[in-house]
Amino acid sequence: MPDGQTIQRMFAEVAPGYDRANRALSLGIDTRWRRRTVRTVAVQPNERGLDVCSGTGDLAFALQREGAQVVGADFCPPMLVRAVRKAGSAPGPRFLAGDTLALPFRDATFDFVTVAFGIRNVSDPVAGLREMARVTRPGGRVVVLEFSKPRVPLLGAAYRFYFGRVLPRLGAWISGARNDAYRYLHDSVMQFPEREAFLALMVEAGLRSPTLQLLTGGIAAIYRGEVRT
Ligand SMILES: C[S@@+](CC[C@H](N)C(=O)[O-])C[C@H]1O[C@@H](n2cnc3c(N)ncnc32)[C@H](O)[C@@H]1O
Repeated sequence: MPDGQTIQRMFAEVAPGYDRANRALSLGIDTRWRRRTVRTVAVQPNERGLDVCSGTGDLAFALQREGAQVVGADFCPPMLVRAVRKAGSAPGPRFLAGDTLALPFRDATFDFVTVAFGIRNVSDPVAGLREMARVTRPGGRVVVLEFSKPRVPLLGAAYRFYFGRVLPRLGAWISGARNDAYRYLHDSVMQFPEREAFLALMVEAGLRSPTLQLLTGGIAAIYRGEVRT
């Protein structure tokens, strides 16, 4: 697992082409996955939400559209610059610099905290989940969208070919990044705990009643847990 600084540098280089690469490489499915994540959060009007590892802010924007007051936090300024630019002058989420391992908020500040494709990049995922739970009020929700690995044989083979062979080259070409970010994406997804193993990490972080929803044949998953009352 690369350290935080290496991750930060890698995303700084990917930032200019990040949104374009996301849409192209996932054929737009990533947008659908974020919408499903918003449904899982089940936002109530005027709830306060935090989206960590927010990047260019897509999940934060989707949550805000449901009527929540959302803060997006990320430790990579070039990603945040794009999020702020996308917000324009319309009332939208507030974006700020923040490390998921040391969030700049008091305990129990938010009704829900989310993370999309980010927890895998945090150098200590359990500490990250614990920190997300700390800033969530008792009874509030922590919701995670992350890649998973399909177990259906044919889909699994196609996925391994696309993810392992095609995506690292195509990703570098579309995003214009000179580093190995899309090779890292593949390797990190292969190594990261998924399904029951990730639910166990949520329990280790102190979250209760963790649940799992598989998306698109198991290519991605939404995890939801509650903060103890
Ligand atoms: C793959 S991007 C996901 C961005 C966004 N959530 C999305 O759905 O497109 C991962 C993001 O996590 C951020 N990140 C990784 N580790 C972090 C940490 N410890 N604290 C804050 N941000 C972090 C990176 O800077 C990057 O913007």
